[in-house]
Amino acid sequence: MKKTLPPDSTILVTGVAGFIGSAVAEKLLENKISVVGIDNLNKYYDINLKLNRLKRLANSGSSKNFDFIKMNLCDGNAIRDLFKNHSFDYVVHMAAQAGVRYSLENPQEYIDSNIQGFFNLLEASQSAAKLKHMVYASSSSVYGGSKNIPFSESEKVNRPVSLYAATKASNELMAFAYSHLHGIPITGVRLFTVYGPWGRPDMAAFGFLRKILASEEIEIFNNGDMKRDFTYINDVVEAILRILTEIPSKILTNEQNYENAESNSRVLNIGNGSPVSLMEFVSILEKCIGKKAKIKFVKFQPGDVKSTFADMTEFKRLTEFEFRTPLEVGLTKFVSWYTSYFK
Ligand SMILES: NC(=O)c1ccc[n+]([C@@H]2O[C@H](COP(=O)([O-])OP(=O)(O)OC[C@H]3O[C@@H](n4cnc5c(N)ncnc54)[C@H](O)[C@@H]3O)[C@@H](O)[C@H]2O)c1
Repeated sequence: MKKTLPPDSTILVTGVAGFIGSAVAEKLLENKISVVGIDNLNKYYDINLKLNRLKRLANSGSSKNFDFIKMNLCDGNAIRDLFKNHSFDYVVHMAAQAGVRYSLENPQEYIDSNIQGFFNLLEASQSAAKLKHMVYASSSSVYGGSKNIPFSESEKVNRPVSLYAATKASNELMAFAYSHLHGIPITGVRLFTVYGPWGRPDMAAFGFLRKILASEEIEIFNNGDMKRDFTYINDVVEAILRILTEIPSKILTNEQNYENAESNSRVLNIGNGSPVSLMEFVSILEKCIGKKAKIKFVKFQPGDVKSTFADMTEFKRLTEFEFRTPLEVGLTKFVSWYTSYFK
């Protein structure tokens, strides 16, 4: 049975101006839950998109329950004060420097936001007496080039092929240690290629659509020999909210040869569980737009992985919930949002 969040909860959403953070905040506000959202509004991509997402939250029916604070996670004092001034029941941590390719150009951003920033949040959360659960974004990229398909949470993830993936795998270790030492219940969600309305301009769905509409060439990596487990944003939001109420307690690692390995920390895959090849993705997108793409095949990119595929058994066991928005349905909604947003 679906559990619901207590209506008097206050939830901190980090990265609230971002794609996933803003969608989670919107759903929480719809459910009349109080949201304090923070974001540093960095310029990694179009700042107007971030500001418009915030505008939407501020104009929603439940805007009185929404408080936005511009804040950088790297500012340890500010994060500490945030936790002193608010009594959070839950934390949904979506702020990070995202993107695999950008981590080759600007590695420092990843150390700052993803390592220092996450450390500041874990430190500050120790003073949160009411905190019931923290859910933070990890990534399917922690599986690296694993050939064990589908990717299962029980797999060892110590072969990251980008610094981005290494910061996400590090977050999982940091979360385990903090939870082990201080008892904070904490879940890392390994997200698989999220797409949909209000999406991220640096990701395939957004970039391909923009270029197809402008009759520009789209670049297809590795001659199209790639697969992604594309996951629709509404499913991701529903999954995160369901996981928030499933609080981990006294989980033992599955490694029987470890002593003292108890922690209230776990990781869970959130993916569609039905990978699609890049060429199939383009062909569905072309149908949704009603226009053919001009394709340029390019070689495999360093830091990239060939395929991703989520094993969703653990998520289903825990939440008794199954989602699988077909790509055709999700992309139709995405194209319709895009054309009305940019008209
Ligand atoms: N979108 C996906 O397909 C996907 C897949 C796997 C993992 N993830 C992870 O999910 C999370 C959310 O991703 P998204 O797609 O919404 O990305 P996004 O870039 O749209 O959102 C991240 C937000 O965090 C903010 N931010 C970055 N650094 C910050 C800092 N130091 N202090 C405060 N705010 C900061 C950014 O301004 C941005 O608004 C990220 O952790 C990302 O790595 C996303």
